[in-house]
Amino acid sequence: MRFKISTFTVQFVTNMSIAKKEYKRITTKSLVDMKSRGEKISMLTAYDYTMAKIVDSAGIDVILVGDSASNVMAGHETTLPITLNEMIYHASSVVRGIERSLIVVDLPFGTYQSDPKEALRSAIRIMKESGGHAVKLEGGKEVKESVKRILKAGIPVMGHLGLTPQSIYKFGTYTVRAKEEEEAEQLKKDALMLEKAGCFAIVLEKVPAKLAEEVAKSLHVPIIGIGAGGGVDGQVLVTHDMLGMTHEFNPRFLRRYLDLYSEMTHAFQDYINDVKSGDFPNDKEQY
Ligand code: KIV
Repeated sequence: MRFKISTFTVQFVTNMSIAKKEYKRITTKSLVDMKSRGEKISMLTAYDYTMAKIVDSAGIDVILVGDSASNVMAGHETTLPITLNEMIYHASSVVRGIERSLIVVDLPFGTYQSDPKEALRSAIRIMKESGGHAVKLEGGKEVKESVKRILKAGIPVMGHLGLTPQSIYKFGTYTVRAKEEEEAEQLKKDALMLEKAGCFAIVLEKVPAKLAEEVAKSLHVPIIGIGAGGGVDGQVLVTHDMLGMTHEFNPRFLRRYLDLYSEMTHAFQDYINDVKSGDFPNDKEQY
């Protein structure tokens, strides 16, 4: 049931009493507002204009121009090789495709860890050259000064804790993080520090659901989970994974909404057969 009320619409979800407010444009404030009203936040990745246009018009709240582009778009084994120029290229393509979503752009590895001034310069380049709305960076206390410096310049920052793929060579594996007491305690401290510093949201990747829920309940800023259970304030997935295009990647947390790898393979095979047999183009498909 939908009732049009001036600039926004309120949708009553029949068996739950959560009213979904529809925003013309999602801002960092909208996300905090969603958390306080108990509305879950939806976030997906995009790296190009066409995908961003589809994801945005489907009604996603946040589009992440993730450094997972390094894996998904460029075929690298890790997220480490992608450069700031490449991230700006992806982000500016995404920005041209959207009307409503908030665009968050990952600061790539090596562009913010060494000193806060360099972090600020990188964040400014992303904002100026791509038109993105916020940046995301990985880490806790070790990036505190960089986070503060970027925020001081008026650039919104999303944190990222738990499994932080830019540190893969430190962890040595992509398994669940913060299962042990000591790491869980540090993660809670880091999350609180990021909130106090002024981050508008935090991604928690691959951590126990109970810990993620505890963090989400203890903070005012939204916690967006990936492999962090359902007790957080929103969810993010890599679009190519949830569409089933990356069929060799099968973590437990991933729900596939399509099997595009098979669908696309069949379409390509049909095309190849039609070309080889001379069936394509037919009389109506020519001038
Ligand atoms: O780069 C990315 O896609 C991410 C998500 C996995 C959160 O950081």
